Amino acid sequence: QHVELQQSFDATIADEARIEPRDWMPEGYRKTLIRQIAQHAHSEIIGMQPEGNWLTRAPSLRRKAILMAKVQDEAGHGLYLYSAAETLGADRADLTDKLISGRQKYSSIFNYPTLTYADVGTIGWLVDGAAICNQVPLCRSSFGPYARAMIRVCKEESFHQRQGYELLTTMMGGTDEQRAMVQESVDRFWWPALMMFGPPDDRSPNSEQSMAWGIKRHSNDELRQKFVDMSVPQAEALGVSFPDPDLAWNAERGHYDFGEPDWSEFTEVVRGNGAMNVERIAVRRAAHEDGAWVRDAATAFAAREQENHR
Ligand code: ACO
Repeated sequence: QHVELQQSFDATIADEARIEPRDWMPEGYRKTLIRQIAQHAHSEIIGMQPEGNWLTRAPSLRRKAILMAKVQDEAGHGLYLYSAAETLGADRADLTDKLISGRQKYSSIFNYPTLTYADVGTIGWLVDGAAICNQVPLCRSSFGPYARAMIRVCKEESFHQRQGYELLTTMMGGTDEQRAMVQESVDRFWWPALMMFGPPDDRSPNSEQSMAWGIKRHSNDELRQKFVDMSVPQAEALGVSFPDPDLAWNAERGHYDFGEPDWSEFTEVVRGNGAMNVERIAVRRAAHEDGAWVRDAATAFAAREQENHR
């Protein structure tokens, strides 16, 4: 019987059809999905912090309202993704526990500080831009709930990307000081944004199997290249440069050549040694602990409702 289940799973993958929560799936497929979806969900939730840092200091009511809506959208993305992980049998409380105890990862990018208000625009443009590049193909991921969650997430991320670009365009039309602030912010975020796509293909232990299962649709390096190609003309239109002397159009390849990110920095950040890792987890842990009474009250309320309806 196991052979038949495996064959049916393989045929579904080969047909580019969707695997749904009640379908049989290999344990490795389930585990890989829980790992990737949990990491993705944690990234959305931790990702609220760098920009949340500027909520009280946004320069106008309009900018504050936009930023607030954006940060709330990220919370929503985290919640859809935790729900998608739950359809695989993961327990949300357990995932949160693994995040705050450092046993599950979240994206390296959120361990960099947001030092100026221009960072809000740069995160929208480059970080959400990289996220879209990585996530649009995930709308075709083989696991149904993940792929469907990605559709709405990508629509909202596109909106975020445009608001970031619009913010930077406004600043670039301002004073010399504002233009310098944008360039300085882009200089800090460019390399970390490239690292979001993960290690190079020859050092990415999960890619091959994840691509064979149709969980990932493109390799890390393919997506990184796509992001560079997409970003260079946008930088030109904006009037900023990227801090990479090797960045140049390669007519033969039909792509931009670019330099090598500092992979030792990436490894350190993923290991927990980035500028903000400790603070990000401490803030998340405190929010979780401070919210314990809400979870207790909701559980007590649900139990009482159930009792009343007996
Ligand atoms: N930050 C932290 N960890 C990373 C990163 C990163 N930028 N890139 C890779 N890793 C981790 C992987 O999780 C993996 O760790 P593990 O095996 O211990 O779980 C290890 O590095 C090796 O990498 P890969 O073998 O390449 O891992 P994978 O196949 O999972 O590819 C990728 C990584 C591309 C990030 C993939 O998981 C993915 O597409 N995830 C969904 C998108 C996502 O999580 N985005 C979050 C940021 S975007 C946002 O929230 C706005």
